[in-house]
Amino acid sequence: TWSTENIIEREVTKIREQVGEGRAICGLSGGVDSAVAAALVQRAIGDRLTCVLVDHGLMRQDEVEQVEQDYVAATGVNLHIAREADRFLSALAGVTDPETKRKIIGREFIRAFEAAEAQVLLDAKADGAKVGYLVQGTLYPDIVESGGGEGAATIKSHHNVGGLPEDLEFELVEPLRELFKDEVREVGRQLGLPETIVGRQPFPGPGLGIRIIGEVTEHRLYILRRADAIARAELTAAGLDDQVWQMPVVLLADVHSVGVQGDGRTYGHPIVLRPVSSEDAMTADWSRLPSDLLARISNRITNEVEEINRVVLDVTSKPPGTIEWE
Ligand code: XMP
Repeated sequence: TWSTENIIEREVTKIREQVGEGRAICGLSGGVDSAVAAALVQRAIGDRLTCVLVDHGLMRQDEVEQVEQDYVAATGVNLHIAREADRFLSALAGVTDPETKRKIIGREFIRAFEAAEAQVLLDAKADGAKVGYLVQGTLYPDIVESGGGEGAATIKSHHNVGGLPEDLEFELVEPLRELFKDEVREVGRQLGLPETIVGRQPFPGPGLGIRIIGEVTEHRLYILRRADAIARAELTAAGLDDQVWQMPVVLLADVHSVGVQGDGRTYGHPIVLRPVSSEDAMTADWSRLPSDLLARISNRITNEVEEINRVVLDVTSKPPGTIEWE
């Protein structure tokens, strides 16, 4: 549409003005925000953009591979994958407090970037450019909820806003900071990104780390990934992706409940489905999913993921509940 083209033109012009002949680096998270931000910056400055995917080990099933293949095929961006799962898991060992988890993941994320950043700075120096630029897919609602808006209180510390070390010689480029999610998707479509990326549900920067209630361990991630993949596949198969804003699947890792399977008693974990409908994530309502879809998800998860013996549905709106559990 005219207004989407207008947004693209405006942002491309702003990026060129800000970056000039400099070089930029962009972290790809697997989500639509960073994918669209990077595509905008690439349109503005071409191959002076380098994308980095920090694989923090907290991604959903097959997600890293999808960025590596689909996104790169669609955009042709230069992508470097930093495989850092061990670093994040060690830092998260023994940690259960949600804000502490978020801070640790945010901190490690920045550290994991340092090697790539250093390279961009070196390249910039070789070009005679003074600084490097760091592209972030920060949206308008992120800024408001992180206290960047006028008079807004900090609700949760979003790891993609602020928190950068002061001595970092990078200037932030945030081409989405005036946009809401639906506008970001339209911009992505207009830029030719595939629907698999543009239509993707929002996924938090801290990833599955804040969807495991309790300590994050490799085994718990393995459990959650399989359950989440089943829930997402069934939602897509039911043709309901467009009607659901996102559906976090949350593992209550410190809770056990008694069940029965075959002849035996089981003692497994409950998992929570949190399907919500929303316009911009600032408010949300729980999605009234068809009961036969819920039954299919529940049957498949309890049959296919042996550690889970109970599936529960979150029927809380936002407010008072946030979309994520942590
Ligand atoms: P809440 O849980 O605050 O989530 O209702 C609102 C929206 O933001 C996503 N979310 C995050 N996104 N970094 C992100 O990039 C984060 O730290 C983060 N925490 C929550 C959440 O999935 C929902 O779409």
